[in-house]
Amino acid sequence: MASKVLVTGGAGYIGSHTVVELQNNGFEVVIVDNLSNSNIDVLNRIQKITGKRPIFENFDLCDTEKIKLFFKKHNDIKAVIHFAAFKAVGESVSNPLKYYNNNLVSLVNLLQAMNENNISNLVFSSSCTVYGQPDELPVTEQSPIKEATCPYGYTKQVSEQVLKDSTSAYKFFKAIALRYFNPIGAHDSALIGELPLGVPNNLVPFITQTALGLRKQLSVFGDDYNTPDGTCIRDYIHVVDLAKSHVIAIQRLLKNNNINDFEFFNIGTGKGNSVLEVINTFERVTAQKLNYKITNRREGDIEQVYADTKYANFELGWKAEKTLEEALLSAWNWEKYYRNNLSNKE
Ligand code: UFG
Repeated sequence: MASKVLVTGGAGYIGSHTVVELQNNGFEVVIVDNLSNSNIDVLNRIQKITGKRPIFENFDLCDTEKIKLFFKKHNDIKAVIHFAAFKAVGESVSNPLKYYNNNLVSLVNLLQAMNENNISNLVFSSSCTVYGQPDELPVTEQSPIKEATCPYGYTKQVSEQVLKDSTSAYKFFKAIALRYFNPIGAHDSALIGELPLGVPNNLVPFITQTALGLRKQLSVFGDDYNTPDGTCIRDYIHVVDLAKSHVIAIQRLLKNNNINDFEFFNIGTGKGNSVLEVINTFERVTAQKLNYKITNRREGDIEQVYADTKYANFELGWKAEKTLEEALLSAWNWEKYYRNNLSNKE
């Protein structure tokens, strides 16, 4: 019998790609999503890709009554992947309570419900943001947790602490936090991808929207950093590689082979690329010319961060396989497909 996995935030960017990989690996998926930053139509497109429509429940995980009813109805869930959270760094600075409330209350509610329903296995969406600006690169899982640069970052740090404390107190609980570096790209089918509401905050959606003429100009936030070309360096990971790491984490939890109660892994490529490298690569693989200019630094940006992935490679047997070229091309194909075929229908 296929194990049933609850995916919170499964209609979102990383969530939808993970649902595809889970279904392709024989898992039965139930999505809980309040569609605050996603569209119900993604279910049709997941079905197109995998031949199977995930079960879907629309509610907010801050609502404890709805969670209770949910677990009563779905009493055969074996594991949970918790994506549902707000993620805009700038908004978290201007509206911190929104972030602390949503991101922390939903996690605590979920853990309480898992506890009451004897569900032991959780995979949590964490972020390299927990490292702040590391003293040494590449950053390993043993690198110190620095002060976060924004409330969003604090919610990830606190969430990990909640998992550490809960797994040590409630002995049957096991959790794996995946610390994502910078997820980019889209599914090869171009049927699902990143769809930010309004003006994108992140680099790659801003690039694809600019190339398509939806934005006039891309701003490169600073070229006076202490890096080879002066622009910031990040570890850009293809979202499909990232999605696959969740399947492996779930399989590991379900196998229960003496893993520690709480584990955390860097999920990146191990390679850093500057903003200008990303732009140049995009121009090369898509044959598009990008209109961009160098502007001031963006407040709160760290200079550089990229992952040491040895621990994830060895312990999980997972490795990023796709290149930056493939990721940028897939992001471009998705942007074009979405604007030409889907945006007018949603
Ligand atoms: N950038 C630009 N122009 C833009 C957008 C971004 O030059 O229009 C630059 C940024 O300055 C940065 C790089 O592109 O150097 C990447 O920026 P993103 O906003 O795409 O990603 P961040 O690295 O800032 O943020 C990501 C995640 C957050 C997470 C953070 C941790 O989106 O969730 O990493 O560092 F908290």
